[in-house]
Amino acid sequence: MTARLFAPITLGGVTLPNRIVISPMCQYSADDGCMSDWHLAHLGSLACSGAGLMLVEATAVTREGRITHACTGLYSDHDEAAMKRVVDACRRITRSPIGIQLAHAGRKASTQVPWLGGKPLAGGESPWPAVAPSALAFGEGWPTPHELSTVEIRGLIDAFAAAARRALAIGFDVIELHSAHGYLTHQFLSPLANRRSDRYGGSLENRMRFALELARAVREVWPRERALGARITASDWAEGGFEAGDAAAYARELKAIGLDYVCVSSGGLVSHQRIKVEPGYQVGFAARVKQAVPIAVCAVGMIADAGQAERIVASDEADMVALARGILDDPRWVWHAAERFGATVAYPPQYARSHPSVWPGAALARPGGTAIRAAA
Ligand SMILES: Cc1cc2nc3c(=O)[nH]c(=O)nc-3n(C[C@H](O)[C@H](O)[C@H](O)COP(=O)(O)O)c2cc1C
Repeated sequence: MTARLFAPITLGGVTLPNRIVISPMCQYSADDGCMSDWHLAHLGSLACSGAGLMLVEATAVTREGRITHACTGLYSDHDEAAMKRVVDACRRITRSPIGIQLAHAGRKASTQVPWLGGKPLAGGESPWPAVAPSALAFGEGWPTPHELSTVEIRGLIDAFAAAARRALAIGFDVIELHSAHGYLTHQFLSPLANRRSDRYGGSLENRMRFALELARAVREVWPRERALGARITASDWAEGGFEAGDAAAYARELKAIGLDYVCVSSGGLVSHQRIKVEPGYQVGFAARVKQAVPIAVCAVGMIADAGQAERIVASDEADMVALARGILDDPRWVWHAAERFGATVAYPPQYARSHPSVWPGAALARPGGTAIRAAA
């Protein structure tokens, strides 16, 4: 029997050949939102991986919504053209669907790239004012963001819809709305970042309003035959924050709007979070959402071993798994998992001669290949 990990799954009108998703990963290598040659190499390499779905990094819907000066954006014709060049190249490599995560950093905007410290930009580093649901800083040493007016909120929802139109023009199969990791949508959702007294703050229903209005706006411009999902959060890992029960309520509303899947993550909202990162540490959250809501669910976070991934989907804790660091570490992770489970995965024809069925060296390259090595 084929491993469940390698059974296809259909989201909206998009079929993934297997349940392995390349998690969106910011590369901090863009210029005014425009993808660079780094993206061509990075995504081109991952397009060879055989993963069922490749998601492009958190991409800002406005210039001010970028985390850093080097984040990708979809707010100008230049960004769109630069991204189309990369996506077109990936299309020539893989037949798996390709998606994009749309985001706005909110109060976590205007920071240095991680390898330069990741701190808020200083005066000489061309900072820009950040916006948020409330004038509350992310933590100590962070600037106080500007509290969005309802007119500005409307403008941001329109920006998400406009970016979705650009994603459509590029030819993406999937849009994932980022509502986790402490970025703008998550800031609206959590009582720790949202202290508004208007209809966008207070009760859970009000705190979800921004997220749901933008999901509706994107669903309207994003065709049903493509897939629309969201990365949601299930814990702020801090007292009084957004919790797993809230995540299930939120997923239920997203499903009602017509979203096709959710990917369940957590954390990143406040600097004083107490998070315990261990193998599969967010899988329980995914399982809880999956039990409560009839929507496809993706688990993410410290999923690095193929057996672990297979157990998660085979036991119905989640329908898919997303990998970030595991696939950077081993871009051939999917090939090796397929080999382990005797499953079929699409190799680019240029690499077909390295398939273990035709390459005897595979036995030497694997940890279990000692017998052949000894016999050689
Ligand atoms: C280099 C890097 C960039 C990331 N960028 C994003 C991003 O753009 N959007 C997002 O939702 N998560 C982002 N993440 C988080 C991952 O998608 C993933 O949720 C997290 O790393 C846990 O999965 P892992 O244990 O497989 O790495 C990033 C992680 C890494 C390592």
